[in-house]
Amino acid sequence: MITHPSYMVEPWCLRETELSMDVLSQSESVFALSNGHVGWRGNLDEGEPHGLPGSYLNGVFEFRPLPYAEAGYGYPESGQTIINVTNGKLIRLLVDDEPFDLRYGKCHKHERLLDFRTGLLHRTAEWTSPSGRSVRVRSTRLVSFSQRAVAAIAYEVEPLDDEMRIVVQSELVANEQLPRAEGDPRAAAVLETPLVSEEHAAHGNRIRLLHRTARSDLRVGVAAAHFVDGPKAETASESVDDLGRFTVTSRLRPGEKLRVEKIVAHGWSAVRSAPAVRDQVDAALAAATSARFAGLAAEQRAYLEEFWAGSDVEVDGDAEIQQAVRFALFHVLQAGARGEARALPAKGLTGPGYDGHCFWDTETFVLPALTYTAPQAVEQALRWRYNTMPEAQERARQLGLAGSAFPWRTINGSECSGYWPAGTAAFHINADIADAVVRYIRATCDDAFEREVGLPLLVETARLWRSLGHHDHHGDFHIDGVTGPDEYSAIADDNVYTNLMAQHNLREAAAAAERHPDLASNLGVDDEETAAWRDAATRMTLPYNDELLVHEQSEGFTRHQLWDFARTHPDQYPLLLNFPYFDLYRKQVVKQADLVLAMCLRGDAFTPEEKARNFAYYEQLTVRDSSLSACGQAVMAAEVGHMRLAYDYVGEAAMMDLSDLEGNTRDGIHIASLAGTWFALVIGFGGMREDDGLIAFNPRLPEQLGRLAFTVQFRQRRVRVEITGTTATYTLLDGDSLDIRHCGERMTLLCAAPESRQIPPIPTGPAPEQPAGRAPARRGRATGHEVDGAR
Ligand code: BGC
Repeated sequence: MITHPSYMVEPWCLRETELSMDVLSQSESVFALSNGHVGWRGNLDEGEPHGLPGSYLNGVFEFRPLPYAEAGYGYPESGQTIINVTNGKLIRLLVDDEPFDLRYGKCHKHERLLDFRTGLLHRTAEWTSPSGRSVRVRSTRLVSFSQRAVAAIAYEVEPLDDEMRIVVQSELVANEQLPRAEGDPRAAAVLETPLVSEEHAAHGNRIRLLHRTARSDLRVGVAAAHFVDGPKAETASESVDDLGRFTVTSRLRPGEKLRVEKIVAHGWSAVRSAPAVRDQVDAALAAATSARFAGLAAEQRAYLEEFWAGSDVEVDGDAEIQQAVRFALFHVLQAGARGEARALPAKGLTGPGYDGHCFWDTETFVLPALTYTAPQAVEQALRWRYNTMPEAQERARQLGLAGSAFPWRTINGSECSGYWPAGTAAFHINADIADAVVRYIRATCDDAFEREVGLPLLVETARLWRSLGHHDHHGDFHIDGVTGPDEYSAIADDNVYTNLMAQHNLREAAAAAERHPDLASNLGVDDEETAAWRDAATRMTLPYNDELLVHEQSEGFTRHQLWDFARTHPDQYPLLLNFPYFDLYRKQVVKQADLVLAMCLRGDAFTPEEKARNFAYYEQLTVRDSSLSACGQAVMAAEVGHMRLAYDYVGEAAMMDLSDLEGNTRDGIHIASLAGTWFALVIGFGGMREDDGLIAFNPRLPEQLGRLAFTVQFRQRRVRVEITGTTATYTLLDGDSLDIRHCGERMTLLCAAPESRQIPPIPTGPAPEQPAGRAPARRGRATGHEVDGAR
């Protein structure tokens, strides 16, 4: 994309300078607007041409059958799929007798610009109809951060030559026709008409549609209000089951403009009645229409100003990465900002990929970035997990286990993975949730959260581990038959990642129970149970190969036959689409960072020498068939001193969607990989870790970058870190003094008093190798289509 000639490299926006049909679907994903509750793909106002129309409401899904050739006990009975809800984006235009359609006539100019500082998506098009009428169309779109039910469009049309008749049709459309999905099983199944009409209304400048989903029984309401400004405009409104339409007719002379503001409100509920949902959307609309478009845009800007003041990352020396990390943070914020106790899906609300499911991606990659940049979003995302505990408890019972077994993939909290070796057996998600809980509590000291949400989550997940694992006759604790992050190994014993994360989970649950004895006792926790958790943690097995001097990803892993990389053709990746799982499972080949991720998240469990050896060993086996791999590899490459390699991995994480590296950005952007860009820069090059209650930094920069600066939030304060080749400067931007660590040295920061320290040289060894053809692309100096300066 960014390497596509119509995309520019700019620090604070993503600009497309002409409409390129070859990347239309991808552009709809990268230009998607969302606030975590409402998601609008970047479809053109007039709806067509499109790659994939998409409007989503977080939590609105439909059940779909999960057919099994051979069913087994505990298999989920049905799947869940995010659905395309009522489309409020549509604004069609008739220019004299011809529909404004860029596939016909002549398009002289087409520019779209997503501004990360204002949160507005701007579009300008100049077009001559087949019969020779020229118009300029300008639209500006937002999905509001401040009013979560609301999105809005300011649409302007002006004639460029003669007087002409203009008809603008602003619509709400339900059950839009969608293109058929292609063969990739990871893309969402297309549900043809998921919405059943309940009510429709059109009065004056307002239209409203109310629908219900057939099987999941969710009620969805969408309403729009309009404000028209233009000469001799006549208006009319009408509605039928799946269509609400507000029409404006006008004659415009050159120099005159017709402006239509469309304010759209959304609402849904599993329990509320039709009148209640109707009132809910009308009320949201009333609040938004009093602000009008300008008021909503001002609120949007203020929200983002505050966000960037506590989160920005500045990169000197690589303009693409500079743009990519802001693009990433913007989208990560969009995914989580107003999710409010709903899941944060792998693609956010930018497309139907992965059926709109939420995975471990959220807790492991997205929540770390949000913890230090928008912590309130983390509180909400974890509250959603807490709210789904009844389903997780039920699942654990079904599997014969204690505590809670959270789903591998889900929308509503119940498991919907039909492939049990990757789904059910990937128990590590439970420890990933616990890790996110601990990180959030340490970073915020949110005691109320710990009592209400954190403690129960830690206790329930610790109970799961204790019942899933066992002590052998020597007393060692094993967790057998599980799948770690590397999905090219399954049902393995003592996966080091899983065991280390479970160990952390067990210890932290015991510590939290000790801090809150009364609450713990209400949950049925007694001293015997916490002692059992601690015992399991202390005796946790971590398989190690004494000859190779490396950890085994799981018991016996290094004894397996090596995958024949030399004979694997480049177009046979991703391997899962070209080889049977049976063969992948029994050989040494790693889909995505697993042991390497364990070293990243549980660095305390490894010596520096072990980290270097393990990293080199697993590098030669890791093929990165998942977008979740590069960022963890970047962090560990930086930690063990391979800065050039770390830089290349940062580039891969950063460009995942902007360069459509996996060829599936059309289905939605990879929120976890985007978060991974922040992760790789801040955790990798900033060397940021939480260390015994302190925030600690071990900064290091590849020589390609002249400077890296970032702001993180920790305990109600903002800390700015600025790294150049040999110096790191720390500034506390607000609040009381804060103790931090720089390369092991403890120091006290006082507000607005920068402290600089030298960065010691980083020892390094020979660079490790990757499987043939799987090395990350070598980053050169910034190329692309750079535009100087900020807009
Ligand atoms: C990865 C999983 C991930 C899922 C959704 C898969 O390809 O292997 O780790 O959770 O994608 O992003």
